[in-house]
Amino acid sequence: MNGALDPGTVRKQFPVLGRLIDSAPIHYLDSANSSQKPQSVIDAMTEFTETSYAPINRSAYRLAAEATEAYEGARAKVARFVNAPSADEIVFTKNATEGLNLVVQAWGRANLAVGDVVVLTHMEHHANIVPWQALAAERGFEIRWIPLTDDGRVDLAGVDRIIEGAKVVAFTAMSNVLGTLNPVADLTAAAHDAGALAVVDACQYVPHNVTDVQAWGADFAAFSSHKMCGPSGIGALWGRAELLDATPPFLGGGNMISDVRLDGFTPAPVPAKFEAGTMPIIEAIGFGAAVDFLESLGMEAVRRHEMELTTYALDTLTERFGDDITIHGPHDISIRGGVLSFAFRNVHPHDVSQVLDQHNVCIRAGHHCAKPLMRVLGVAATARASVYLYNDRDDVDALAEALDGASDIFGF
Ligand SMILES: Cc1ncc(COP(=O)(O)O)c(C=O)c1O
Repeated sequence: MNGALDPGTVRKQFPVLGRLIDSAPIHYLDSANSSQKPQSVIDAMTEFTETSYAPINRSAYRLAAEATEAYEGARAKVARFVNAPSADEIVFTKNATEGLNLVVQAWGRANLAVGDVVVLTHMEHHANIVPWQALAAERGFEIRWIPLTDDGRVDLAGVDRIIEGAKVVAFTAMSNVLGTLNPVADLTAAAHDAGALAVVDACQYVPHNVTDVQAWGADFAAFSSHKMCGPSGIGALWGRAELLDATPPFLGGGNMISDVRLDGFTPAPVPAKFEAGTMPIIEAIGFGAAVDFLESLGMEAVRRHEMELTTYALDTLTERFGDDITIHGPHDISIRGGVLSFAFRNVHPHDVSQVLDQHNVCIRAGHHCAKPLMRVLGVAATARASVYLYNDRDDVDALAEALDGASDIFGF
């Protein structure tokens, strides 16, 4: 389907969104945190479990061959979804965090030492900060930071100077706090000009946009199934074949070897080399079904819907609350996804979120695993509403009404 997305029809496919709490519908505005799951994903996992479940890769019987085929079929779907040149370039991981840790612990450990430089941005999630910091503490390489503009974009002005001599530039494709869509291809090109690898945290980007890792030209990209209508417990790391081939294993154990002797082991070819132990097989089937679901809607349509809804939310909230609300991040919708982090008067974000919950409006409050960014913004926390393919204007209106309710409670 390539026409407009009808959120009412889409919403009906998500059983939990049909639930009532206190006899009223749920306004789920926390998809940047984790998305809800459509019936087709739930059914795919149930059906696979009921009819085809078996261990993968190890056994010669037909049921196991069928399960292996389904698992590899899911990998092929994920590869196609991000336009990876080959399914072998998709490594299943637990989530985006594990994908990024794989890059740091496997590639980084083999390639980074004193004197090297890794460049990050001020808008990174802890998943793309802490692993680098932990290895830097051990190896003694330097971490440099790309600052942000006042409206929450990566400041490209000084980028070439900052990344000069770097071995890695690791950055998010979309900020989970500011909603900023970063110029991934430009940052990748700048990284490559400096002789560095480009590692993309694609966790917020892939669920909401057409993703083309080949057009990005990047080296690694990590994302999570649970933010894109799939189950939790599985994610993917895409990496260029030659890099994955040259990178040592991350975890050791069953399935990731082609031979083990008393004096050592020979790793399996990719992607098995990075998939040690029994993988989340049922979840992989669900991940593949989530890709089918998103493709049936069309990612252009998903993005268009979110642009329309985010514009409506920005307009509604600023018109209604004026100076009483500060919405962080760029207001230019062409470089912004459907994430709205805001400060509401001087009410603590946790209090905002609790009051909103009384109206069945589900948002996230906190530092969003981006403490360095919170410091840059000069806040300890923000309230964050985020929209997805099942949200509509009713959800935004409910958010605005509930914020009015918060004003009453806090006596404004
Ligand atoms: C930008 C970004 N990167 C990484 C992550 C980590 O994702 P996960 O918890 O699925 O590993 C998140 C999760 O919120 C995120 O928003």
